[in-house]
Amino acid sequence: FTAKRLQGQHLLVTAGPTFEAIDPVRGITNLSSGKMGFAIARAAQEAGAQVTLVAGPVHLPTPRGVVRINVQSARQMQEAVQSQVGRATIFIATAAVADWRPAEFSDQKIKKDGSGDVPAMSFVENPDILAGVAQSAQAKAGKLYCVGFAAESHDLLKHATAKRLRKGVPLLVGNIGPATFGKDDNALLLIDGKGTKELPHASKDVLARQLVDEIALRLPAVNP
Ligand code: C5P
Repeated sequence: FTAKRLQGQHLLVTAGPTFEAIDPVRGITNLSSGKMGFAIARAAQEAGAQVTLVAGPVHLPTPRGVVRINVQSARQMQEAVQSQVGRATIFIATAAVADWRPAEFSDQKIKKDGSGDVPAMSFVENPDILAGVAQSAQAKAGKLYCVGFAAESHDLLKHATAKRLRKGVPLLVGNIGPATFGKDDNALLLIDGKGTKELPHASKDVLARQLVDEIALRLPAVNP
Protein backbone atom coordinates (compact mmCIF):
# COMPACT_ATOMS: atom_id res chain seq x y z
CA PHE A 1 0.00 0.00 0.00
CA THR A 2 1.05 3.56 -0.58
CA ALA A 3 0.35 6.02 2.23
CA LYS A 4 -2.03 7.88 -0.09
CA ARG A 5 -4.07 4.84 -1.03
CA LEU A 6 -7.29 6.85 -1.30
CA GLN A 7 -5.80 9.67 -3.39
CA GLY A 8 -8.38 10.95 -5.86
CA GLN A 9 -11.29 9.46 -3.89
CA HIS A 10 -14.01 11.47 -2.17
CA LEU A 11 -15.46 9.86 0.94
CA LEU A 12 -18.84 10.79 2.36
CA VAL A 13 -19.38 9.32 5.84
CA THR A 14 -22.24 9.53 8.34
CA ALA A 15 -21.55 9.27 12.06
CA GLY A 16 -23.16 9.50 15.46
CA PRO A 17 -26.77 9.19 16.56
CA THR A 18 -29.72 11.17 15.27
CA PHE A 19 -32.00 13.21 17.52
CA GLU A 20 -35.73 13.10 16.81
CA ALA A 21 -37.50 15.99 18.49
CA ILE A 22 -40.74 15.53 20.43
CA ASP A 23 -41.11 19.16 21.51
CA PRO A 24 -38.67 22.10 21.85
CA VAL A 25 -36.91 20.51 24.85
CA ARG A 26 -37.31 16.75 24.38
CA GLY A 27 -36.44 14.09 21.88
CA ILE A 28 -35.42 10.53 21.17
CA THR A 29 -31.84 9.56 20.55
CA ASN A 30 -29.38 6.72 21.21
CA LEU A 31 -25.97 6.12 22.74
CA SER A 32 -23.87 6.19 19.56
CA SER A 33 -20.68 8.16 20.28
CA GLY A 34 -19.70 8.73 16.65
CA LYS A 35 -16.15 7.54 17.40
CA MET A 36 -15.97 4.91 14.64
CA GLY A 37 -17.19 7.28 11.94
CA PHE A 38 -14.87 10.06 13.05
CA ALA A 39 -11.94 7.61 13.12
CA ILE A 40 -12.80 6.52 9.56
CA ALA A 41 -13.01 10.16 8.43
CA ARG A 42 -9.55 10.81 9.93
CA ALA A 43 -8.00 7.65 8.45
CA ALA A 44 -9.41 8.34 4.99
CA GLN A 45 -8.21 11.96 5.05
CA GLU A 46 -4.74 10.75 6.02
CA ALA A 47 -4.93 8.25 3.14
CA GLY A 48 -5.40 11.12 0.70
CA ALA A 49 -9.18 11.18 0.28
CA GLN A 50 -11.29 14.31 0.33
CA VAL A 51 -13.66 13.67 3.22
CA THR A 52 -17.10 15.03 4.06
CA LEU A 53 -18.45 13.98 7.45
CA VAL A 54 -22.17 14.27 8.21
CA ALA A 55 -22.42 14.14 11.98
CA GLY A 56 -25.35 13.80 14.33
CA PRO A 57 -25.12 15.38 17.79
CA VAL A 58 -21.79 14.20 19.23
CA HIS A 59 -19.03 15.72 21.34
CA LEU A 60 -16.03 15.07 19.12
CA PRO A 61 -13.54 17.42 17.46
CA THR A 62 -13.56 17.58 13.66
CA PRO A 63 -10.58 15.65 12.24
CA ARG A 64 -8.08 17.88 10.48
CA GLY A 65 -8.80 18.56 6.82
CA VAL A 66 -12.30 17.08 7.01
CA VAL A 67 -15.41 19.03 5.98
CA ARG A 68 -18.09 18.53 8.63
CA ILE A 69 -21.83 19.06 8.36
CA ASN A 70 -23.76 18.90 11.63
CA VAL A 71 -27.32 17.58 11.63
CA GLN A 72 -29.84 16.47 14.22
CA SER A 73 -32.62 14.36 12.73
CA ALA A 74 -32.56 11.44 10.30
CA ARG A 75 -34.31 13.55 7.70
CA GLN A 76 -31.68 16.30 8.04
CA MET A 77 -28.97 13.64 7.77
CA GLN A 78 -30.59 12.28 4.60
CA GLU A 79 -30.84 15.79 3.13
CA ALA A 80 -27.17 16.50 3.86
CA VAL A 81 -26.15 13.15 2.35
CA GLN A 82 -28.22 13.76 -0.77
CA SER A 83 -26.69 17.21 -1.23
CA GLN A 84 -23.12 15.84 -1.00
CA VAL A 85 -23.26 12.34 -2.47
CA GLY A 86 -22.98 13.45 -6.10
CA ARG A 87 -19.29 14.29 -5.58
CA ALA A 88 -18.53 11.14 -3.59
CA THR A 89 -16.85 7.95 -4.80
CA ILE A 90 -17.20 6.14 -1.45
CA PHE A 91 -20.11 6.28 1.00
CA ILE A 92 -19.75 4.80 4.48
CA ALA A 93 -22.77 4.79 6.80
CA THR A 94 -21.70 4.44 10.42
CA ALA A 95 -24.48 6.59 11.88
CA ALA A 96 -26.93 5.00 14.29
CA VAL A 97 -29.97 6.51 12.62
CA ALA A 98 -33.14 6.43 14.72
CA ASP A 99 -35.51 3.91 13.15
CA TRP A 100 -38.58 5.93 14.12
CA ARG A 101 -39.46 9.53 14.88
CA PRO A 102 -42.48 10.96 16.69
CA ALA A 103 -45.31 11.32 14.21
CA GLU A 104 -45.91 14.85 15.43
CA PHE A 105 -43.68 17.61 16.73
CA SER A 106 -45.23 19.87 19.37
CA ASP A 107 -44.21 23.53 18.89
CA GLN A 108 -44.74 24.07 22.58
CA LYS A 109 -43.37 22.08 25.48
CA ILE A 110 -45.80 19.33 26.41
CA LYS A 111 -46.87 20.16 29.97
CA LYS A 112 -47.39 17.79 32.84
CA ASP A 113 -50.85 18.77 34.10
CA GLY A 114 -50.77 16.98 37.43
CA SER A 115 -53.60 14.60 36.58
CA GLY A 116 -51.27 11.63 36.18
CA ASP A 117 -52.23 11.27 32.51
CA VAL A 118 -49.36 10.48 30.18
CA PRO A 119 -49.21 11.82 26.62
CA ALA A 120 -49.99 9.36 23.85
CA MET A 121 -47.25 9.19 21.27
CA SER A 122 -47.15 7.57 17.87
CA PHE A 123 -44.20 7.08 15.58
CA VAL A 124 -43.40 6.99 11.90
CA GLU A 125 -40.50 5.23 10.22
CA ASN A 126 -37.45 7.23 9.22
CA PRO A 127 -35.96 6.93 5.73
CA ASP A 128 -33.18 4.37 5.33
CA ILE A 129 -30.36 6.63 4.20
CA LEU A 130 -27.91 3.87 3.28
CA ALA A 131 -30.42 1.77 1.34
CA GLY A 132 -31.48 4.86 -0.61
CA VAL A 133 -27.92 5.75 -1.58
CA ALA A 134 -27.06 2.13 -2.42
CA GLN A 135 -30.03 1.95 -4.81
CA SER A 136 -29.10 5.19 -6.60
CA ALA A 137 -28.07 5.23 -10.26
CA GLN A 138 -24.64 6.49 -9.18
CA ALA A 139 -24.04 3.40 -7.02
CA LYS A 140 -25.58 1.02 -9.54
CA ALA A 141 -23.32 2.41 -12.26
CA GLY A 142 -20.30 1.47 -10.13
CA LYS A 143 -19.35 5.11 -9.46
CA LEU A 144 -19.96 4.95 -5.72
CA TYR A 145 -18.73 2.23 -3.35
CA CYS A 146 -21.17 1.83 -0.44
CA VAL A 147 -20.32 0.41 2.97
CA GLY A 148 -22.81 -0.29 5.75
CA PHE A 149 -22.37 -1.10 9.43
CA ALA A 150 -24.36 -3.45 11.61
CA ALA A 151 -24.61 -3.62 15.38
CA GLU A 152 -26.37 -6.84 16.33
CA SER A 153 -26.88 -8.32 19.76
CA HIS A 154 -26.81 -11.95 18.52
CA ASP A 155 -26.23 -14.07 15.40
CA LEU A 156 -24.04 -11.35 13.87
CA LEU A 157 -23.01 -13.29 10.77
CA LYS A 158 -26.55 -14.33 9.92
CA HIS A 159 -28.12 -10.91 10.48
CA ALA A 160 -25.27 -8.95 8.90
CA THR A 161 -25.24 -11.17 5.80
CA ALA A 162 -28.97 -10.64 5.39
CA LYS A 163 -28.55 -6.91 5.99
CA ARG A 164 -25.87 -6.67 3.30
CA LEU A 165 -28.25 -8.15 0.74
CA ARG A 166 -31.26 -6.17 1.92
CA LYS A 167 -29.42 -2.85 1.79
CA GLY A 168 -27.72 -3.76 -1.49
CA VAL A 169 -24.18 -2.82 -0.41
CA PRO A 170 -20.99 -4.58 -1.56
CA LEU A 171 -19.44 -4.40 1.92
CA LEU A 172 -21.13 -4.73 5.31
CA VAL A 173 -19.14 -4.30 8.51
CA GLY A 174 -20.39 -5.95 11.68
CA ASN A 175 -19.43 -4.78 15.15
CA ILE A 176 -18.19 -7.88 16.96
CA GLY A 177 -18.91 -8.17 20.61
CA PRO A 178 -21.36 -6.56 22.96
CA ALA A 179 -22.29 -2.87 22.86
CA THR A 180 -19.37 -0.97 21.40
CA PHE A 181 -21.24 2.31 21.82
CA GLY A 182 -18.99 4.88 23.44
CA LYS A 183 -15.95 2.62 23.66
CA ASP A 184 -12.57 3.44 22.14
CA ASP A 185 -12.01 -0.05 20.79
CA ASN A 186 -13.89 -2.71 18.86
CA ALA A 187 -13.47 -5.72 16.59
CA LEU A 188 -15.01 -5.90 13.13
CA LEU A 189 -16.37 -8.59 10.84
CA LEU A 190 -16.18 -7.66 7.15
CA ILE A 191 -18.71 -9.32 4.87
CA ASP A 192 -18.57 -8.97 1.10
CA GLY A 193 -19.63 -11.04 -1.89
CA LYS A 194 -16.63 -13.33 -1.49
CA GLY A 195 -16.87 -14.14 2.19
CA THR A 196 -15.86 -12.80 5.57
CA LYS A 197 -12.75 -11.38 7.20
CA GLU A 198 -12.22 -10.51 10.83
CA LEU A 199 -10.34 -7.44 12.01
CA PRO A 200 -9.42 -8.44 15.55
CA HIS A 201 -9.84 -6.36 18.65
CA ALA A 202 -8.03 -3.00 18.40
CA SER A 203 -8.58 0.71 18.91
CA LYS A 204 -11.14 2.33 16.61
CA ASP A 205 -8.29 4.38 15.09
CA VAL A 206 -6.36 1.23 14.15
CA LEU A 207 -9.51 -0.48 12.87
CA ALA A 208 -10.38 2.59 10.79
CA ARG A 209 -6.98 2.48 9.07
CA GLN A 210 -7.37 -1.26 8.42
CA LEU A 211 -10.86 -0.68 7.03
CA VAL A 212 -9.48 2.02 4.71
CA ASP A 213 -6.94 -0.59 3.48
CA GLU A 214 -9.70 -3.12 2.88
CA ILE A 215 -11.82 -0.60 1.00
CA ALA A 216 -8.85 0.55 -1.11
CA LEU A 217 -8.31 -3.11 -2.10
CA ARG A 218 -11.91 -3.47 -3.23
CA LEU A 219 -12.21 -0.17 -5.10
CA PRO A 220 -10.65 -0.94 -8.51
CA ALA A 221 -13.47 -3.31 -9.33
CA VAL A 222 -15.98 -0.56 -8.62
CA ASN A 223 -14.23 2.64 -9.71
CA PRO A 224 -12.09 1.51 -12.63
O1 C5P B 1 -31.00 -1.48 9.52
P1 C5P B 1 -29.89 -1.10 10.41
O2 C5P B 1 -30.14 0.19 11.15
O3 C5P B 1 -29.40 -2.13 11.36
O4 C5P B 1 -28.68 -0.84 9.39
C1 C5P B 1 -27.49 -0.29 9.79
C2 C5P B 1 -26.81 0.39 8.64
O5 C5P B 1 -27.71 1.18 7.87
C3 C5P B 1 -25.77 1.37 9.13
O6 C5P B 1 -24.77 1.47 8.14
C4 C5P B 1 -26.57 2.66 9.25
O7 C5P B 1 -25.75 3.80 9.22
C5 C5P B 1 -27.49 2.58 8.06
N1 C5P B 1 -28.81 3.20 8.25
C6 C5P B 1 -29.15 4.35 7.54
N2 C5P B 1 -30.41 4.90 7.69
C7 C5P B 1 -31.30 4.34 8.54
C8 C5P B 1 -30.97 3.18 9.27
C9 C5P B 1 -29.71 2.66 9.11
O8 C5P B 1 -28.33 4.86 6.77
N3 C5P B 1 -32.51 4.89 8.67
